[in-house]
Amino acid sequence: MTPSINADRLWQSILELARIGPTSEGGSCRLALSVEDKEARALLLDWCRPLNLHFEQDAIGNMFLSRKGRMDTAAAVAFGSHLDTVPTGGRFDGTVGVLAGLEVMRTLHDANITTGAPLELVNWTNEEGSRFRPAMMGSRVHAANMSLEAALAITDDEGTSVEAALHDSGQAGALVPSPRGWTCWLELHIEQGPVLEASGADIGIVTGTMHARYFQLMVTGEPSHVGPTTMDRRRDSLAAAAEIILAVERIALAAEPGGRASATWIENYPNARGNVANITRLHCDVRHEQAENAVAMEHELRGVLNAIGLRRGVNIAIDPYASFGPVAFDTRLADLLRDKASMRQLTTRDMIAAAGHDSVLMASLTPSAMLFIPSVGGITHNPREYSTKEQIARGAQILLDAVVELAR
Ligand code: GLV
Ligand code: MN
Ligand code: MN
Repeated sequence: MTPSINADRLWQSILELARIGPTSEGGSCRLALSVEDKEARALLLDWCRPLNLHFEQDAIGNMFLSRKGRMDTAAAVAFGSHLDTVPTGGRFDGTVGVLAGLEVMRTLHDANITTGAPLELVNWTNEEGSRFRPAMMGSRVHAANMSLEAALAITDDEGTSVEAALHDSGQAGALVPSPRGWTCWLELHIEQGPVLEASGADIGIVTGTMHARYFQLMVTGEPSHVGPTTMDRRRDSLAAAAEIILAVERIALAAEPGGRASATWIENYPNARGNVANITRLHCDVRHEQAENAVAMEHELRGVLNAIGLRRGVNIAIDPYASFGPVAFDTRLADLLRDKASMRQLTTRDMIAAAGHDSVLMASLTPSAMLFIPSVGGITHNPREYSTKEQIARGAQILLDAVVELAR
């Protein structure tokens, strides 16, 4: 039998990490490559030091911590997640996957176990995409889904580039981002939805993901005075954006239960009292369990945008800047996770991930799988995000059991 992970140590580590970038409501804010993200990364490295892991970092800031196996030249079994958060983040999204991976390393270290194949723990850069779009940037670059040059040139809302943020945070590593020849990839994550809790299952076996399509919309009208300009002569980009935001929501409501969509970000110019706005930028995405339905949602969105633009005399430029999925994860790895759960008397449920994850990119490179643990109340990207110590420990144990078998 594989050794037991230390549930208390894992829980304490999660709480300790949450002291970096705390929000007033008890959540976490560690935007990618911020001061807080840098500090969290440094703490991870501190924790890894006594474990004799070999640290490497690539030029997009992805962190790789490898543990030697008996077979020096064998390909590694890799696992991990992300330490960055959204502005209203909780303490568990991403963090659980990285720190459960750390707990795997710690448990093996304590038990003096050397696996056959090497192991590799990964912290991916900018999974969230809150500060720099798109989401899953580090894993995209690693998987050549996006070029390093394109990623480095992307700027946040303040005009700081990814390149500058990597430099300023000291996270621009020496490695050229590229696949590392792993035998497989595993990611433990909180579910971020209500399914596991409602069904009473301990572990979610993630068989695949939704298909999501992301857009930046730029609405251009005409600047004018809010007083003298009669209503019929206004070309108001903000009013058009308001219609668009509700249209996106309507498209998702009509696509339920498999569909989801929201506009999430807005920038308005000149954003001045007394002025009818003339430039408004929005971000939104449409996603669905069935890829063709996500495509249909996009088609509907484009139709609505066209109609709004014509009726209001504004131009609406659509930049479809990213997408992910649909991905089907490796069925043999899923079987293994199911077996490991049942050997620990844990119940499982197959499910589809509605959020993007770095595993989506890994699935294009190597057999990949994800396991979910329940999210209390299905709450996420929210300071009230919560999974219990026991729920997390169960997930970490299954991760360890699977890793030990895969690296035997
Ligand atoms: C990112 O995680 C997304 O699901 O959009
Ligand atoms: Mn996440
Ligand atoms: Mn997230």
